[in-house]
Amino acid sequence: MFDVQKIRKDFPILNRKVNGKPLIYFDNAATSQTPQQVIDVIVDYYTNYNANIHRGVHSLSQEATDAYEQARIKIQKHFNAKQPYEIIYTAGTTHSINLVANGFTSLLQKGDEIIVSALEHHSNIVPWQMLCARTGAELKVIPMNEDGELILSDFDELLNKNTKLVFVNHISNALGTINPIEYIIEKAHSVGAAVLVDGAQSCPHLKPDVQALDVDFYVCSAHKICGPTGVGMLYGKEEWLNKLPPYQGGGEMIAEVTFEKTTYAGLPHKFEAGTPNICGGIAFGAALDYMNRIGFEQIAKYENELLAYGTEQLLKIEALKIYGTAKEKTSVISFNVGSIHPYDIGTILDKMGIAVRTGHHCAQPIMDFYKIPGTIRASFMFYNTKEEIDTFIVALKKAIMMLS
Ligand code: ALA
Repeated sequence: MFDVQKIRKDFPILNRKVNGKPLIYFDNAATSQTPQQVIDVIVDYYTNYNANIHRGVHSLSQEATDAYEQARIKIQKHFNAKQPYEIIYTAGTTHSINLVANGFTSLLQKGDEIIVSALEHHSNIVPWQMLCARTGAELKVIPMNEDGELILSDFDELLNKNTKLVFVNHISNALGTINPIEYIIEKAHSVGAAVLVDGAQSCPHLKPDVQALDVDFYVCSAHKICGPTGVGMLYGKEEWLNKLPPYQGGGEMIAEVTFEKTTYAGLPHKFEAGTPNICGGIAFGAALDYMNRIGFEQIAKYENELLAYGTEQLLKIEALKIYGTAKEKTSVISFNVGSIHPYDIGTILDKMGIAVRTGHHCAQPIMDFYKIPGTIRASFMFYNTKEEIDTFIVALKKAIMMLS
């Protein structure tokens, strides 16, 4: 049984007030909140077994190493990767994407083509532009329609024998569109291109199976999935990870070092130079445990109800326009009201204890498509409620009155 009131008790932050009003946290697409179960794991680590990993013979180091590697196995199982060493710990989605983009520098040349989608976050645009500048490869874009869906017939036409890489997000952070990644992966593979899927926004809402998807790279951040900031993962198929060179040099990523020559460690250590975010990795595993205990089917069902209810209530407001009306979407609602600037509404909502994101959401090309400077974005997670949406609607109407 999905009991939202019981779940809310796990999140201490939901009890606090902001500007004298109970916090209503609708900025989950930016970062999720952290349950006590994950906070406890972080406190336990620093209280009882903080040590560096893979280095010491002493007990604390062994305990920390075991917990960190156990968490890697939890992540592997969650995403159904074939091997634990196909999971590389990173600092987050952006770091993961840059690791892959950097690795492809020696594998691309002039005449090669890279495809991204019109729905990307800047972190899945800029690293590829930088890669194109280094290699002479060309960047092509899958266009979108007014609903915020990718135009797949145009994608089919962009694909050719020169296409080497395709990058799409699983879910758009700005609009909530769920992209048909199964189709995109199959088509890209038919011309021999590798596919990286940015899962930053999908992982809080669904459970991707990287083997069933047959995706080459899948990336995400722990902080969107009830884990801490500063840690994330890169899943890569073993054969791809073996082809890519290391991203950073340093301790732990080597087999042998002399001043003449260094040989590199095997997977996953080749990509994990330096002391990693040990506590973060362990807490990432705990966050996945927490979400799996609730169950992703239950989470998706409940969040879809919040999305339907929130959309219905918002659309009753005059002059309110929702951006992102894809048939397949998740619990993200981006909107504007008449010509009121999103920032002004966001500031007044904050005064009433309500946290939303305003602006271009690091997806300026989407805003350019709609010819707007930005939107107000309310993004729901499984610990939000319909009652919170009701309070938000009342506050929004007040803000509109004040600004009209
Ligand atoms: N990418 C995050 C967002 O969409 C920060 O807000």
